[in-house]
Amino acid sequence: MSLSGKRILVTGCGGGIGRAVSRLLGERGATLVLSDLELHGAATAHACKARYLSLDVTQEHAWRSVAATILDEFGGLDGVVNVAGVILMQPLEATTLAEYRRIQAVNHESVFLSLRHTAPLLRHCNGAHGASVVNFSSIYGLGGQSGFSAYSAAKGAVRLLSKAAAVEFASQGDRIRVNSVHPGPIDTPLARGPIEQLVQAGRLSSVEAGMQGVASRYPGGRIGLPDDVAGVVAFLLSDDARFLNGVELPVDYGITAHAQ
Ligand SMILES: NC(=O)c1ccc[n+]([C@@H]2O[C@H](COP(=O)([O-])OP(=O)(O)OC[C@H]3O[C@@H](n4cnc5c(N)ncnc54)[C@H](O)[C@@H]3O)[C@@H](O)[C@H]2O)c1
Repeated sequence: MSLSGKRILVTGCGGGIGRAVSRLLGERGATLVLSDLELHGAATAHACKARYLSLDVTQEHAWRSVAATILDEFGGLDGVVNVAGVILMQPLEATTLAEYRRIQAVNHESVFLSLRHTAPLLRHCNGAHGASVVNFSSIYGLGGQSGFSAYSAAKGAVRLLSKAAAVEFASQGDRIRVNSVHPGPIDTPLARGPIEQLVQAGRLSSVEAGMQGVASRYPGGRIGLPDDVAGVVAFLLSDDARFLNGVELPVDYGITAHAQ
């Protein structure tokens, strides 16, 4: 599954999953444009010998500027991975409209802005099999979860936005595939945040006990790691996945397959 010759933009490259994805895509030969808030992903880009662009994914002017820079320096794109995201664990009635909108902006509206501003670049893709977009949803975008209403709503929107875009691009004759990935809990700062919150509230004895509890939700009994997700993303970007379009792919070792 070589990605040689493919120019790929990754958002949220400084986080747990974004770093693993960036590293693997680099190892597979992709030419990478990595991005995150301010300098948050600069070390990842340095390690991957990649171009780094600061990009707050909620800001349309920032997307415009990044798209213009990529067109100028790289002439187009062959793939985009929309990884950037934030979580909020909070009861629905305690969530303010401003908090709700912030979660939609980072997790969901960002994907809309990405599709809107990178589609012209993806039409300049190399190779016979077209371009590929991978959007990060979650298993919480496949089913609801108590305490995560804003996050679930945003990730559910990513799922259907991906499908609608996939169908629209294909029916326009654009060779741009769009798929969503739906990881189960993956051991990163984002997954540890809510556990730390519960420890601080005295509802869990320790972060490690909380992580054990999360792992036990997996039929296999071990929590997912960023590298478990990275390989799936690399596959979706590769020409081996050239006939996968509008697909929602759980990366959860069977959590969502489990009969309740
Ligand atoms: N870790 C999990 O358990 C899990 C499970 C399912 C889905 N996901 C999704 O995977 C993606 C990556 O999560 P992670 O676990 O690596 O989280 P993480 O917190 O380790 O990394 C998230 C990255 O997004 C960046 N980011 C946040 N707001 C941004 C903004 N406005 N503009 C640009 N970048 C911004 C952060 O700086 C950070 O580098 C997210 O979309 C998350 O919702 C994670």
